[in-house]
Amino acid sequence: MEDLKLIRLTVETQLKPFDCGDPDLNDFFYNDAKRLAEQLLATTYVYENNEETVAFFSLLNDKITIGNFASNRKYKRFKQIQLLDKQGKSFSSYPAVKIGRFAVSINHQSNQHGKDLLNYIKQLFITHNRTGCRFLTVDAYNNPRTLAFYKREDFDILKSVECDKNDEKTILMYFNLMRLTE
Ligand SMILES: CC(C)(COP(=O)(O)OP(=O)(O)OC[C@H]1O[C@@H](n2cnc3c(N)ncnc32)[C@H](O)[C@@H]1OP(=O)(O)O)[C@@H](O)C(=O)NCCC(=O)NCCS
Repeated sequence: MEDLKLIRLTVETQLKPFDCGDPDLNDFFYNDAKRLAEQLLATTYVYENNEETVAFFSLLNDKITIGNFASNRKYKRFKQIQLLDKQGKSFSSYPAVKIGRFAVSINHQSNQHGKDLLNYIKQLFITHNRTGCRFLTVDAYNNPRTLAFYKREDFDILKSVECDKNDEKTILMYFNLMRLTE
């Protein structure tokens, strides 16, 4: 049985070997994650055993606003579907946490670590959150396997956005945390 632990990355953390097969995500892990943590811009959690990094994810505050929609009508419809107007109140934005980066090592993909960690993140913002957080968001890589993964974990598409790398696109997806409390 693997001796796995989840740690919060700090500048002192000794990074163990990691390769998820995506150079950008590997680069973020080795070169950006500590700096962003130090600057309070994103918090990264590392899932590791004694020898290697099995997975990591980074989180930052986000919100869903009218700017995420093509029209006021679409935003209104979203609020109705997500039961955001239950008491007749309407807000100009809704609190969210963004999964900024998420990757599982090639050696460990398809072993449900991704599923387990997403479930952990969902619970984190329902039971241990100190502020309100209604949604998880993620700019999911626009490839069939990544989209299939998030869809399987009940994320829905909010909209497509241009990604700055190589003209590729990411797809903005979200998960309504109220689904787990009803
Ligand atoms: C997407 C990812 C985080 C899922 O983690 P995981 O531990 O492999 O996920 P699970 O074992 O819970 O689920 C596996 C499913 O995820 C999907 N998947 C997406 N990308 C995959 C990949 N590169 N390898 C394996 N499965 C992948 C498939 O639907 C897969 O189902 P299958 O095993 O029946 O083919 C992980 O595969 C990964 O790091 N991929 C490369 C980087 C990436 O795309 N990160 C997300 C950026 S938004």
